[in-house]
Amino acid sequence: MNTTPRRVEYQQTDKGSIPVYTTGTVEQPWADYTRSEHEVWATLFRRQREILQGRACNEFIENQQRFGMSPDAIPKFQDLNRVLKAGTNWEIVGVEGLLPDDVFFDHLANRRFPVTWWIRKPEQLDYLSEPDLFHDLFGHVPMLLNPVFADYVQAYGRGGVKAHKLGAEALTLLTRLYWHTVEFGLINTPEGVRIYGSGIVSSRGESIFCLESDVPNRIGFDLERIMLTQYKIDTYQRNYFVIDSFQQLMDATKPDFTPIYARLAKLESIPAGELRPGDRVIHRGTGEGWSDTGTT
Ligand SMILES: [Fe+2]
Repeated sequence: MNTTPRRVEYQQTDKGSIPVYTTGTVEQPWADYTRSEHEVWATLFRRQREILQGRACNEFIENQQRFGMSPDAIPKFQDLNRVLKAGTNWEIVGVEGLLPDDVFFDHLANRRFPVTWWIRKPEQLDYLSEPDLFHDLFGHVPMLLNPVFADYVQAYGRGGVKAHKLGAEALTLLTRLYWHTVEFGLINTPEGVRIYGSGIVSSRGESIFCLESDVPNRIGFDLERIMLTQYKIDTYQRNYFVIDSFQQLMDATKPDFTPIYARLAKLESIPAGELRPGDRVIHRGTGEGWSDTGTT
């Protein structure tokens, strides 16, 4: 790759110390991807598609197929945008990497999903501390073709624009909603619990762990419970929240969050992995091997 991402600084956020990049959108430098970068895409694509059979929800798999994503080459944003625009009137925009919260929220509120243009190196197939093209494209973009989920992500963006004005506490509560749904969400289906969260579908290990391990809790979706729940940034999650439908997510965003933030701000956060009375427990985790690091 001839171009290098323009990282501007590191910022301490609730996700830890993260690099923040230039905020402008960029053209995907498609012609500059090397053979090795296309191969990284192909390897990850084949591997995840195999693992996700019977684990990811049908909406994810079917929508990914509708985009025509394949292992042959890194997809071109403009090709995906033709499908996405016609499907749900969303579009993807190329970015250098993680954006400051307010810029990110503004994109979502306007039905634009920022996608990192660069892809991980061959030695980083299994772990990367920040989102790259594989996570953003393979993981996030397919679900944006689902009309209800697409509206949910926009509603989240609008909520983010508001929460950003309200301050850090509101932002922390709202960010947890994104984390426990868009990134690490599970859904109940007639065939059993399935994955829709992007952080899971783009990870080989967690795609299996979240459904099949006895260690983590699997808990029924509850908006306020989720907003109070801390999460792990350095290991697999300790809690996975399970929705019954995408409509349930959309409905949860209908109330004005301002009074909810005010009420929850007075309560203690719930540590990752802890169960509470009132939880709709689908699976009680064994908690085996948990230590106290990396919780936010
Ligand atoms: Fe993500």
